[in-house]
Amino acid sequence: MENIEKVHLVVEEKYFPPKDIVEECIVKDYESMYEKSMQNPTEFWEEIASDLYWFEKWEKVLEWDFPRAKWFVGGKTNITYNCLDRHVKSGKRNKVAYIYVDEDRNEKKYTYGELLELVNRMANGLKSLGVQKGDRVSIYMPNTVEAIACMLACTRIGAIHSVVFAGFSEGALRLRIEDAKAKVVITSTYTKRRGKKIHLLETVKEAIKPLNFVERVVVWDRDGELDEEEIDNRMVKLDKLIDNSSPVCEPEVMDSEDPLFILYTSGTTGKPKGVLHTVGGYMVNTYLTTKTVFNIKEETVYWCTADIGWITGHSYIVYGPLANAATSLIMEGVPVYPHPGIWWEYIQKYRVNVFYTAPTAIRMLMRFGEDIPAKYDLSSLKILGSVGEPINPEAWLWYYKNVGRERAVVVDTWWQTETGAHMITTLPSYPAKPGKAGKPMFGVDPLVVDKEGNPLPPNTVGYLVIKKPWPSMLRTCWGEPERYEKYWKEIPGGYYSAGDLASIDEDGYIMILGRADDVLSVAGHRIGNAEVESAIVEHPAVAEAAVIGKPNEIKGESIKAFVILKAGSVPSDKLVEEIKDTVREVLGAIAVPDEVEFVDKLPKTRSGKIMRRVLRARELGQELGDTSTLED
Ligand code: WT7
Repeated sequence: MENIEKVHLVVEEKYFPPKDIVEECIVKDYESMYEKSMQNPTEFWEEIASDLYWFEKWEKVLEWDFPRAKWFVGGKTNITYNCLDRHVKSGKRNKVAYIYVDEDRNEKKYTYGELLELVNRMANGLKSLGVQKGDRVSIYMPNTVEAIACMLACTRIGAIHSVVFAGFSEGALRLRIEDAKAKVVITSTYTKRRGKKIHLLETVKEAIKPLNFVERVVVWDRDGELDEEEIDNRMVKLDKLIDNSSPVCEPEVMDSEDPLFILYTSGTTGKPKGVLHTVGGYMVNTYLTTKTVFNIKEETVYWCTADIGWITGHSYIVYGPLANAATSLIMEGVPVYPHPGIWWEYIQKYRVNVFYTAPTAIRMLMRFGEDIPAKYDLSSLKILGSVGEPINPEAWLWYYKNVGRERAVVVDTWWQTETGAHMITTLPSYPAKPGKAGKPMFGVDPLVVDKEGNPLPPNTVGYLVIKKPWPSMLRTCWGEPERYEKYWKEIPGGYYSAGDLASIDEDGYIMILGRADDVLSVAGHRIGNAEVESAIVEHPAVAEAAVIGKPNEIKGESIKAFVILKAGSVPSDKLVEEIKDTVREVLGAIAVPDEVEFVDKLPKTRSGKIMRRVLRARELGQELGDTSTLED
């Protein structure tokens, strides 16, 4: 029999956390802690930052010179010291940091002590290649602890990492290496997906062919399969670097505002933006949010299913969990291989307490039916996280019932590459509402406004803005400061504009409806309409293209492309396939349109801008809306 107290009470669509979970929560009183973060931010952030180690204390918590913020001004630290040395020095040398599992269920554990040594060896190895503080290093690696160690090796010595998701194509990779002017690229011979090897080194070799500034390529030769003749003079094996280096490497003394990493994300133009995060504020806020949203304690087993190539991986596989000395599971592969219950199998096997995934994955696993999770003992689960796109109530309830067994709480975390850390969610001790992300995190001051910046009444859809700076906010877009300023100047009032549509209910719960701008969300991946369009026109037969997102039950959105061919080219199925292949080559598989339709004309404004809104409305059989600016 179920203990009655363990069952959530449903009151007006609110799901109250069970008593035993609340009792275990690090933060039991969200309201008063949030209040403090707003009323007395200096004291609030000083207290949190004091949990971490600083070589020199900051002089000032915040310096706000609109739209530029500095946090923990003058503070000196190193994020790897806080993620590794601090724990090793406090008796956690033998605590497991990561349990890695591959697609064949092989597992490998890394303790904090082992990870620190690996990171130090790699850091010394990078130094021996001439990598210095401020240099950029691109990382194109599988979702493994080796990849994490590469990231940490960079930040140990003050180099700026730029991780590129290993599913990106050669073209997308080249663009990112080129934009960051990376001195070194780190890769591995392959990654595995559905039992198939995906060759990463080959992609890197092609990507860097025209890039002379790339001095070295470090290769993790996973199976020792590289022949000597395959290794050119730019290449060096990761194992060699590790073996030849000392396991001791003093952490570089970093200023709070020194760059930590660049991560590229899609915007409304064809070129992705290099979001830059800095050391101090990012460290403090990923530490705080991981601790309080996921309730990380000494014994917690935590699993975030993201890939380190995305911000979720950076903040909630690497830096946040490590800063909290968590034990994390990390998996290389897909959620349905070798079978669609593999995630539940691992939750049972490793007694996972906190599980963090994306709605698109939940919806995909839902399709296989509830009998699959029902076969496993998921009683270890306490917190179920969601991220990446709005979670529809149907998926929320499925997750809650079939995975959480109505005993675990669901936290729907809204945030962005730019925000660095969770911005809106409900803490596990706080009631949640399915389909609504919830309440602002500490120090976050959100508002829903119209285009002119006027606050909107409850339950009215408008633009989501953040009124004040927060520690883990992006500091700039790499090489494009004007793009950074746009976030703060898009909407009058001096607010950060998130680019999302949202509404706030009378209880202050925020619901996110999706992007307000020309950015798609396909299976939780952010893809700019313009990026896909410019990839399509790389096909020699294409004159012009427009791309829209269509609602899709599993992926959230699917891509449809409207294509005008050049004179002399004739529509055909073969051409459709070729166009899809072009997108696959230029951007990668995640951006390939599901549908391609050939058209003679595209709706445009008189100034020549394609009206994607009109295409979308036509496609979905909706009202066209205001077409007064339509040219024809
Ligand atoms: C965009 C940011 C943050 C990690 C993954 C995505 C959408 C993200 C939620 C959520 C509704 C969400 C927004 C946001 N998004 N989380 N819980 N509910 N929408 O990072 O690639 O920078 O994308 O993802 O549209 O603006 P990203």
